[in-house]
Amino acid sequence: MQKNKKFIVAPNWKMYMTNTQAQEFVHSIDQSLANKAELMLFAPATAICAIAEETRRKGIIVGAQNMYWEEEGAYTGEISAPMIKDAGGTHVIVGHSKRRTLFGETDVEVNLKVRAAQRHGLTPLVCIGEEMEERTSGAYHKVLTQQIVAGLIGVRAEPLIIAYEPVWAIGSGQAATVEQVRETMGWIRRVLVEQFGGAGCNIPLLYGGSAKPENAAELAAIDSVDGFLIGRAGLKVDSLKAIIDQVP
Ligand code: PGA
Repeated sequence: MQKNKKFIVAPNWKMYMTNTQAQEFVHSIDQSLANKAELMLFAPATAICAIAEETRRKGIIVGAQNMYWEEEGAYTGEISAPMIKDAGGTHVIVGHSKRRTLFGETDVEVNLKVRAAQRHGLTPLVCIGEEMEERTSGAYHKVLTQQIVAGLIGVRAEPLIIAYEPVWAIGSGQAATVEQVRETMGWIRRVLVEQFGGAGCNIPLLYGGSAKPENAAELAAIDSVDGFLIGRAGLKVDSLKAIIDQVP
């Protein structure tokens, strides 16, 4: 974990949480819990505005899960960076594996989104990760390098967050092992330093993929892990609290 920085705990709510549920969730996070980690809630776009005020008061960051790269226009169904900001969001997930696999998002589109987010003052949280075949065949270093290099052309090292989420670990209940996370995130850090020089050392690196109370302590203790991106275990305040209680 990076010195003098709080451990990042970032629930990605995916397509869960009505406005009422999101408000109840935020309401039941007490201030000491909110203070213990850098808490970032990636809410459905519809719920950002509903939780913006209370999260701001509690020092909790709110973000969106996707965005389009244009500022405005006839892009039915899309939302822009200025819209996210106006609703009260400061961060945005880009290139989540489900966006890549279910919605065909490419590294080129990821790059357009990351640059647009930075241009408009949003912090992009860029997800990268390999499929199981790529892990077993040993091709994962190449895949991750490609996602970083292509996804981050023309991008500044700050504001930027990277999440390593092995696709096979997402939603499977089976996180990557401590050794896999240590080795792979060390590799990612080296690629970021090649890409950005010294500034690459300061880009927060999150682990995601079945992070939960049962494995939070051992994964959070890995040197190269600055935080977690959490799906399922981030949908209930109890499990979120159990995770936050174990992070450094
Ligand atoms: P999971 O999801 O924690 O349920 O595996 C992680 C994610 O999709 O970001």
